[in-house]
Amino acid sequence: MTYRFFIKSLSWCCVMMMLSCSVTRPVSFMAGTALPSALDQHFADATAQYKFMMKNLPEGRFPKTFDPKTGKQETSNSAWWCSGFYPGTLLYLYEQTKDPVLYAETERILKLLEKEKNNKSTHDLGFMMYCSFGNANRIAPKPEYKDILITSAKSLATRFNPKTGVIRSWDSKDPSQFLVIIDNMMNLELLFWASKATGDLTYRNIAITHANNTLKNHFRPDYSSYHVLEYETETGKVNKKRTHQGYADESAWARGQAWGLYGFVVMYRETKDEKYLEQAKNIAGFILNHPNLPSDKVPYWDFNAPNIPNALRDASAGSIIASALLELCTYVKPEGGKELFSSAETMLASLASSNYKTAIGGNGGFILMHGVGNMPAKTEIDTPLTYGDYYYVEALVRYKSLIKK
Ligand code: GLY
Repeated sequence: MTYRFFIKSLSWCCVMMMLSCSVTRPVSFMAGTALPSALDQHFADATAQYKFMMKNLPEGRFPKTFDPKTGKQETSNSAWWCSGFYPGTLLYLYEQTKDPVLYAETERILKLLEKEKNNKSTHDLGFMMYCSFGNANRIAPKPEYKDILITSAKSLATRFNPKTGVIRSWDSKDPSQFLVIIDNMMNLELLFWASKATGDLTYRNIAITHANNTLKNHFRPDYSSYHVLEYETETGKVNKKRTHQGYADESAWARGQAWGLYGFVVMYRETKDEKYLEQAKNIAGFILNHPNLPSDKVPYWDFNAPNIPNALRDASAGSIIASALLELCTYVKPEGGKELFSSAETMLASLASSNYKTAIGGNGGFILMHGVGNMPAKTEIDTPLTYGDYYYVEALVRYKSLIKK
């Protein structure tokens, strides 16, 4: 055994020992709404919608959105950042219903998605490959899924720059500019998985370094986050903090807050480092105590949107936040956990109501209405979104596992 290999194995053992010592006990909560008795119906409705959607999906395409005004379905190719959400949602629903049609459709679409494992032009590989192949491998592990996930993690890792200490989100025409968006926190889960699967800590170390620099640079004192940071490639200096999809550079774009929250919950799950738990709790505090959070707890598309209370809601932000809170509530002391669970339950019950959940056969087969994709670009405004559906179903699954029987 070489010295390097010995040190590597030793560090890996230490990580595994640390994590196994802090395995969390099973937690459950009393439901405060009628949601538990409706869960099976919500899974059945979502399944009916996705079976309707798959019938209208053109050959070789992935669902993107649906314009309720024109009745037009929009689709994408596999390189679109959302291509993993459709198979991911099918898999969560398959786990609940065991409907073989859902699994067969997943296998069909995964074949079309596989080539993205080599895509080094995007940071979105976590979304694309982990929500899809990650879930597929969790449900029915296969060596080929494992290989695809490892290759995807390798591709993602090529975007990490040790000088900036972060993973590049978007390529810039100016090579001195290194752009990172808060959304990138969502791609780290794939890297943690890759270290566990291969024993190579490089992926995990990249994720931790990225998260530490994001924690240091991306947040304001009130724990809201900027959307885009412009780092300097050679020095790692932050030259500008701004928005791309939010209302203003200094506003709190709702989905950005959701990505940050979810990302730091994952960081705590994977490392058990208390500083990530604190960060996640503080982000949750910003969201849940914000005076502009409506009483149904589904946020406006930006917490500082100019026309609140008439601003549009973003159901996708609500889904992501609900799902993240349903994990976070299991990590905090009983009283705090109950409050987080109860807020998530309110959000989820709102999303599952007819205010957001579509009637069967409508909405192009999507489950939720009222998402906002990119307001400044005037695209996907008040429409369904694949990620809104994915995190909504994930939140229902998490909720189901947490309620006291
Ligand atoms: N990752 C892009 C978005 O949240 O719209």
